Amino acid sequence: MSVISGKKVLLGVTAGIAAYKSAYLVRLLVKKGAEVRVVMTPSAKDFVTPLTLSTLSKNEVFSSFVDEENENAQWNNHVALGLWADLFLIAPATANTLSKMAQGNSDNLLIATYLSAKCPVYFAPAMDLDMYQHPSTLKTFEILQSFGNTIIPATHGELASGLVGQGRMAEPEDIIAFLEEDIARKLPLKGKKFLITAGPTYEAIDPVRFIGNHSSGKMGYAIAEESARLGAEVVLISGPTSLSLHNESIRKISVTSAQEMYEQAKHYFVSCDVAILSAAVADYRPKQVAVQKIKKMTTGLTLELEKTPDILASLGVEKQDQFLVGFALETENELENAKTKLKKKNLDLIVLNSLNDEGVGFGADTNKVTLIDASNKTYPFGVKEKGDVAKDIIQIIIEKIHA
Ligand code: CTP
Repeated sequence: MSVISGKKVLLGVTAGIAAYKSAYLVRLLVKKGAEVRVVMTPSAKDFVTPLTLSTLSKNEVFSSFVDEENENAQWNNHVALGLWADLFLIAPATANTLSKMAQGNSDNLLIATYLSAKCPVYFAPAMDLDMYQHPSTLKTFEILQSFGNTIIPATHGELASGLVGQGRMAEPEDIIAFLEEDIARKLPLKGKKFLITAGPTYEAIDPVRFIGNHSSGKMGYAIAEESARLGAEVVLISGPTSLSLHNESIRKISVTSAQEMYEQAKHYFVSCDVAILSAAVADYRPKQVAVQKIKKMTTGLTLELEKTPDILASLGVEKQDQFLVGFALETENELENAKTKLKKKNLDLIVLNSLNDEGVGFGADTNKVTLIDASNKTYPFGVKEKGDVAKDIIQIIIEKIHA
């Protein structure tokens, strides 16, 4: 999955001959899963039509503050457009537009939007070779970069003038590759290794029966997806679930029993930076597993159970520099019990699941959690979709590991 997927991308198109390539850029961005809107300078419409770009982006294209031909026209709100974007790409970016961006000369909708945008801005210059090398242009690049904008350098080749040199806008595929690489490099969890456990464990009674629980694994899977989305290298050790993963970079290791989960978790814990143990591990397993299916008896059946290894507690003992996160499912004295568990298992953070609220718990799509850190600071959250709960948890972990 591309890091661009799901992003709101605002494409700024200015009046250069390379504007014809912006149609292809929109198509590629949409294919990558981005939501695309286009803002053009008025003269860019001489090079590519708004109809082409609106058809490809499936969104209205903006080029002026008001649509003069429509008597019921509304003011095009550049502030809203700028704030809407997760990323603003100006391609092609002419010398004229770049210089206005550098000077804050807001004489069209594109520049006004640029000045309102709070998101990362990328610009792909396109101009003739002498213009590209002119000290004024070079100074403009410098100013824009000092604002935190990122240049996607022009390439070398034949230019519209017939001259050959640097000034061609980077090819759309290369612009996309540049964006993907740059975004991935700047992700907050880039370079971090995450170990996540999820789902239930099944403890065999005989070849066809087991002791298990109702955990769906949804919370752990959402945490794995969110960690990977933010750049982490994720190993997910999963008990039996019916869930699938969207992010192909997540390495899933399927296990069945607490013992298997324990062995895999121990193995990956050594080299991880963050371990989040959200699995609902069975606390007990049958002491003897029958080799053959147990036949029905006239009397009752008594199973002798023994404890499974406490994975979280044993990782707490082994812990070096890893940031260790556990879950607690409590029904009474919730905060006190969770704090005790945090200390006892040598954790850095504990996620307290409350079962006392509606719409939460096993199988549900929503959850309500309170996080408690090692200094007993609590972070209470409301009832949310599990995907949003995962975002809250990962955000707090990012704050803690970068502190
Ligand atoms: N856990 C584990 N290994 C086990 C049991 C639990 O790693 N054998 C982990 C879970 O993944 C979770 C945390 O321990 O992160 C808390 O589980 P919970 O059932 O709330 O607590 P327990 O420690 O089992 O204690 P109790 O059931 O008595 O509350």
